[in-house]
Amino acid sequence: MTASITLHQPRRLIVGAGTIDEIGDLVGAASSVFVLATPITAGFIDRMRIRGKLEVFDAIPGEPDMATLDAALVSARRARPDVVIGLGGGSVLDVAKLVAVLWDSEQTLADVAGPNKVAGRNTRLVQIATTAGTGSEAGIRSLITDPVKGAKVAVESPHMIADVAVLDPELTFTVPPAVTAATGVDAMAHCVEAFTNKRAHPMIDGFARMGFRLVGRYLARAVKDGSDTEAREGMMLASFYGGICLGPVNTAAGHAIAYPLGTRLGLPHGLANAIVFPHVLAFNQPVAAEKTAEVADALGFGDIRSPEQLLDNACRFCADLNIEMALSKHGASQENLAVYASEAHANRRLMDNNPADMSVDDILGIYNASY
Ligand SMILES: [Fe+2]
Repeated sequence: MTASITLHQPRRLIVGAGTIDEIGDLVGAASSVFVLATPITAGFIDRMRIRGKLEVFDAIPGEPDMATLDAALVSARRARPDVVIGLGGGSVLDVAKLVAVLWDSEQTLADVAGPNKVAGRNTRLVQIATTAGTGSEAGIRSLITDPVKGAKVAVESPHMIADVAVLDPELTFTVPPAVTAATGVDAMAHCVEAFTNKRAHPMIDGFARMGFRLVGRYLARAVKDGSDTEAREGMMLASFYGGICLGPVNTAAGHAIAYPLGTRLGLPHGLANAIVFPHVLAFNQPVAAEKTAEVADALGFGDIRSPEQLLDNACRFCADLNIEMALSKHGASQENLAVYASEAHANRRLMDNNPADMSVDDILGIYNASY
């Protein structure tokens, strides 16, 4: 018997090249629209054809922290929006979720940290993805870095689901090949870590399969030719399916091991996960052989017999996408790896989902192997 699950999905999902043009009509007579973006994604704002009053907050960094959220909230309280639009990658969409529920609320971030603490939402939320990786537009979770603790604060609430989510592959055409590759592997990691998860669920397995098969089919193409619309759309769907996997099942050891590389070393989330992914896939293989074989097949590895073979193939898959897989090349110093390992091990929220138990030494072994 499998445990019951609850699945939240955006009320409306729009998929297709050029669909960002429809936002103005969808938003309609909103009297105030507040857009969260980065200096780069703000370039797409004109394409939305918003007719009413528009405020933009575009100072969202790759790893948003509490100060970012506070600054965005100050701006939003000035704008008093009836529609909040997130226009960007996972960082932007995560901040947009929190701004939509907090800007007119008495609650603070500390009040809503954890599952189901958000009191409600009065503002419509439109989430427009401009990368294919986090799948944040699909879900109800937001991660914000606490710079003091060096950890992520996770907020999860059905009130943070999008009214409208948009997957327009044209918005990802200008994502550079290196970012396309790393974020694409991150999307796959969401699917695979949910698929081989202790809390795996047959329905989520279906989304996971669709996701990692799309990655096997399209990621190399999207890296090679950024304006390959079919490949870009395939990757956006893979990312969305990964986002669905994150909701009721979530990730496991791979993400737990990747987090210190983001919070301590400052690596982008996708890259950190790409570096860790092959090692965790191989580590889990003995206890998740059948499902791992399905993943290996989808990624074109052929007949895999041992964890070593799997590690080889998965590392080559990433290296063929031109991802630099050596931690040493990203400024890591070996004496810090033990701290990362104990921090990753302490992330029980994710580690307890992993199909195979990992000791601090196992984790340190993975960091060393990827050094
Ligand atoms: Fe991720």
